[in-house]
Amino acid sequence: MKVRIAPSILSADFARLADEIARVEEGGVDQLHVDVMDGHFVPNITIGPLVVRAIRRVTALPLDVHLMISDPDRYLEAFVDAGASMLTVHAEVLPHLHRTLTRIRELGARAGVAINPSTPVAQVREVTREMDHLLVMSVNPGFGGQSFIPRSIEKIAEAQVLFAREHTPVAIEVDGGIDEANAAAVVAAGASILVAGAAIFGTPDPAAAARALRLAAGPAA
Ligand code: DX5
Ligand code: ZN
Repeated sequence: MKVRIAPSILSADFARLADEIARVEEGGVDQLHVDVMDGHFVPNITIGPLVVRAIRRVTALPLDVHLMISDPDRYLEAFVDAGASMLTVHAEVLPHLHRTLTRIRELGARAGVAINPSTPVAQVREVTREMDHLLVMSVNPGFGGQSFIPRSIEKIAEAQVLFAREHTPVAIEVDGGIDEANAAAVVAAGASILVAGAAIFGTPDPAAAARALRLAAGPAA
């Protein structure tokens, strides 16, 4: 599996979003990570379907939409309609995860589950067939620019073992504090989608930073 680089626009300049996206496209990234926060599940508020729709018009990159919201079921259709190619929902807020994932696929998007640092990998054990990707949060969600939590490496490795045992081709995405220093370690543990906000948009040259991150990550395990 190829390593996919997913810049998080959370650290981009929102007043110049189209330019920022053009810069990472030039850096050869694979998808754009869009962080949706509701000020309830996480202590921050970001963007909604209107902005996703606006981004959809300025790029052909797949939009990887990470829903950090308390009631994602209410908004799945709105985000897919707006142009989301991948929708990721948090296990912590969904008692009917199986139904939610099935619905996301029915709507035509790839379905993913995110787990917070304090949520065990076992939380997704019964729904591996309904998932296209698992997002392992390597910081507590809510803000860009936080430090990577080292324990996340073991969680990625555990997830890799689980998906191999179940023979389910679930991609492992890692999100939070990813940079050139830890990219190779998360890939070696089994991650194939690397989200990075500050390490790409927090630099003077996001295209070069995206290329450097890919180089540091090396080929997928
Ligand atoms: C955090 C978000 C992340 C964040 C990553 O709640 O889910 O996607 O933007 O940003 P960095 O790479 O700066 O930690
Ligand atoms: Zn995210």
